[in-house]
Amino acid sequence: MDHERLLRELSEFLRIPSVSTLPAHNQDCRAAAEWVAAELRRIGCHDIAFLGSDTHPVVWGQGPDVPGAPTLLLYGHYDVQPPDPLAEWTTPPFEPTQRDGKLYARGSADDKGQVFCLLKAIDPKNPRVNFRFLIEGEEEYGSKVLFDLLKREPQRVRADAVIVADMSYVAPGWPAVYSTLRGLCYAEITVRTSKTDLHSGEYGGAAPNAHEELARLLTRLKGADGKINIPGLYAAVKRPSKAELAAWKKLPFNEKDFLNKRVQGKGLVGLKKYSVLERLWALPTFEIHGILGGFTGEGAKTVIPATATAKVSMRLVPNQKLATVERQLAAAVKRLTPKHVTASVQFMHGADPAQIKVDSLPFRLLDRAFKKVTGRGTVPARAGGSIPVVPALASAGAPVILTGIGLPDDRLHAPNEKLDLKQLWDGIEVFRAFYELLGSQESGVRRRG
Ligand code: BES
Ligand code: MN
Ligand code: MN
Repeated sequence: MDHERLLRELSEFLRIPSVSTLPAHNQDCRAAAEWVAAELRRIGCHDIAFLGSDTHPVVWGQGPDVPGAPTLLLYGHYDVQPPDPLAEWTTPPFEPTQRDGKLYARGSADDKGQVFCLLKAIDPKNPRVNFRFLIEGEEEYGSKVLFDLLKREPQRVRADAVIVADMSYVAPGWPAVYSTLRGLCYAEITVRTSKTDLHSGEYGGAAPNAHEELARLLTRLKGADGKINIPGLYAAVKRPSKAELAAWKKLPFNEKDFLNKRVQGKGLVGLKKYSVLERLWALPTFEIHGILGGFTGEGAKTVIPATATAKVSMRLVPNQKLATVERQLAAAVKRLTPKHVTASVQFMHGADPAQIKVDSLPFRLLDRAFKKVTGRGTVPARAGGSIPVVPALASAGAPVILTGIGLPDDRLHAPNEKLDLKQLWDGIEVFRAFYELLGSQESGVRRRG
């Protein structure tokens, strides 16, 4: 493998600031889609198209074809999350930089580096299987374009297997496949307490304060004990089986290390009667992402703000449904809002949780590929994050393999995101071995070629 050349090419991809949630970066998202399309041309796709392109296009590709061989669909995303806070990056987010065998850049692990890995593992001269590609540019903003596309054209996901490399190992040296992803319900909660802002001396003591009301509302929605006080929310939550909980105890996960090395805080929170893994993987969450409004500029201003908005989201677990949780959240906000306050909830995007059976033949082949290259096969785990379109990818019945070559400390969505280069080089060999096993005559994967 020509590491120098591969690094140059990956750096080119990472230099494109394809932040899907910010309209100012629409051209950059288009440029990242073009980068993907050029790769697909190099690989030998005979059908490449930008689909559903009113916003950021989904890059579709088909080919190379290997008559009689199984069909494998590769999914990934070329968009990234905003890079802020910029001041915390050691080197700028869109200037990929190598330090100590790691490549630092926004998107290095999530998900450009992993898409790169899947693509570079393909040998255009000897492709082994029939390839299809769906590489989207809106994953970090809810995947609406791809959702709508797959509703109109469900045949796009017809394949013998689907592979998604947008996760990480469970620990260094421990590759994994994931049996669940959490869903997501993203909303803005806005409260209003008066027509306009008021002088805090003239009115303070008698007029309601929007920030105070919002703070109270939010802390009522989730208490200090970590319990979410939304009636009915926990009713649908299905606890993991005893066997699964026992298997998690054997994973290389240590609560103290999680606190000290990964969270790097002073203590963990949440429902104390459940293990940390269960809180991360199998219980719903309620998080506040940011609060807007009032006076936050330089200096001091004595004012009672009339409105305040919180951006919040909830993670959903099997067997919760997004539509139900949206209703429950809206009803809870209404119930907890006092008469002197107007509150509204606006839903932005969301996803149902995903559940995947990880015991079919393609999973055994990936396990063998990891074992061959890294010396250890895959362990089944769950993921706390979300990939909205996964249930739709599974809708035609093909097994969806959720895996990845990143590491748990890659700092996705945070400053100084990185990818360990050893993970990338190993990953390319793993996927190459996987394609080969899948295409081999003995593999017995159902043919739809
Ligand atoms: N790659 C992540 C999802 C992920 C991260 C899965 C870690 C498992 C472990 C993906 O790019 C992501 O961040 N998704 C968003 C989706 C949302 C914006 C709709 C998420 O989970 O916040
Ligand atoms: Mn991702
Ligand atoms: Mn992400």
